[in-house]
Amino acid sequence: MASNTKQKKVKILIVEDNPGDVRLFKEILSDINNHNYIVEDVRTLEDSLTKSHQNNYDAVFIDLNLPDSFGIDTLYKFISKINNIPIIVLTGSDDLELAAKSLDAGAQDYLVKGQFDFNSLKRAIKYSIERNRIQKEKEELNNKLKIYADRWSSTFNAIEDAMSVINIDGKIIQANKAMCNLFQIDNKNIVGKICIDLLKDSDHQRDICSMELAKKYKTRQNHIFKINGKFFNCIVDPVLDENNNIVRMIHILSDVTQQKKAEEELEQNYKKIKKLFEQAIFSFGRLLEVKDPYTAGHQKNVAQIATLIAIDLDLNSEKIEAIRLASLVHDIGKIAIPASILSKPGKISFAEKSMIEMHPQIGYEILKEIDFSYPLAEIVLQHHEKIDGSGYPNKLKNGDILLEARILVVADVVEAMSSHRPYRPAHTIEETLHEIESNKGILYDPDVVDSCLRIFKSGKLNIHDLEK
Ligand SMILES: [Fe+2]
Repeated sequence: MASNTKQKKVKILIVEDNPGDVRLFKEILSDINNHNYIVEDVRTLEDSLTKSHQNNYDAVFIDLNLPDSFGIDTLYKFISKINNIPIIVLTGSDDLELAAKSLDAGAQDYLVKGQFDFNSLKRAIKYSIERNRIQKEKEELNNKLKIYADRWSSTFNAIEDAMSVINIDGKIIQANKAMCNLFQIDNKNIVGKICIDLLKDSDHQRDICSMELAKKYKTRQNHIFKINGKFFNCIVDPVLDENNNIVRMIHILSDVTQQKKAEEELEQNYKKIKKLFEQAIFSFGRLLEVKDPYTAGHQKNVAQIATLIAIDLDLNSEKIEAIRLASLVHDIGKIAIPASILSKPGKISFAEKSMIEMHPQIGYEILKEIDFSYPLAEIVLQHHEKIDGSGYPNKLKNGDILLEARILVVADVVEAMSSHRPYRPAHTIEETLHEIESNKGILYDPDVVDSCLRIFKSGKLNIHDLEK
């Protein structure tokens, strides 16, 4: 069956002044000619150049000794004008040295006259064309690489952030303009330097160095350091090979001075607001104490006990602060209870008791609209709940009660029992601690009770040191 695709013919030029050699060459190629070769010939170098310019030859066979050129110069002259066609030098058996020189000069191959047949000729043509193709691809690839390298270099230098590429030992391989400007070193002198040596005048600390961490964890790391009054965020990105080994690291130093200053301002403002807020909380507490002098100092004392319990239980700083502030205002709801009931000596009626028991809910209503970062209003709401569900106002049990409230309730009981009230004298600390210990796991969280006992028994807090 005939092939639909026509095989492309190989176009050959023979540059040879000896008609006998030309005839022989053509005969060999036509010996088993299946019309795959188009063979043309010229006698001089000049004609070969003209023809090569006009035609798209796949290969040129050239005898170096021609009427208008002699020896290796023939090849030099040809290659200087035509450099994209594979050349095969035709040589006599006595000038093999010249053949070797020809290969050095760029010829793809050489053939010794009278010693080749169809197969060797075909092979020489095929290999020459193939070698030429590979060489061209290599050149194209090199050109592309050069373009990419130039693009990378110009992009690298145009980046505003200081960037460098360093090797595994911390030596700078490449640095951009911003990096050189930052450390006031020219590119020639920055390459080869150990990057950490550039940070001599900074507050950079080796133990938080991103490079060390990036080497350890093989992931992107960053840290901030200060140099010449400016803050820089240092990002280190490790580049890994296929075996997950670090081959180099990219350093990026971004000037974050403005951002850092804004953060510091924000932090200062936050501290100011926090201070104002604390003052407001104190005022709230004082407000109640004016109304109910018997509870003067109570909230402050509860705050002291509750905070020590929270610290003893190893709670985080935010929870400790929440407990301290909630304690300072936990009875704020009593502000709505008539002073005559609050400071009534002797027994109170059921209705009066019910009214007093509304104070956690009232406290919650007062505080709930204020946007705290912790559940201050909820802690206040739950500060009379007991873990067996016998507390008020919602009869919550165990884990349904916030830990902060479970701490506050114990601190509240200890402070209240050890204080004088119009209707009873103060209990001793032994009686007070006995009360919470005997109700451990019943009314009060066992861990909180244990913690409270530890604090008093270890002498960390003496009940007489509290404000009375
Ligand atoms: Fe209370």
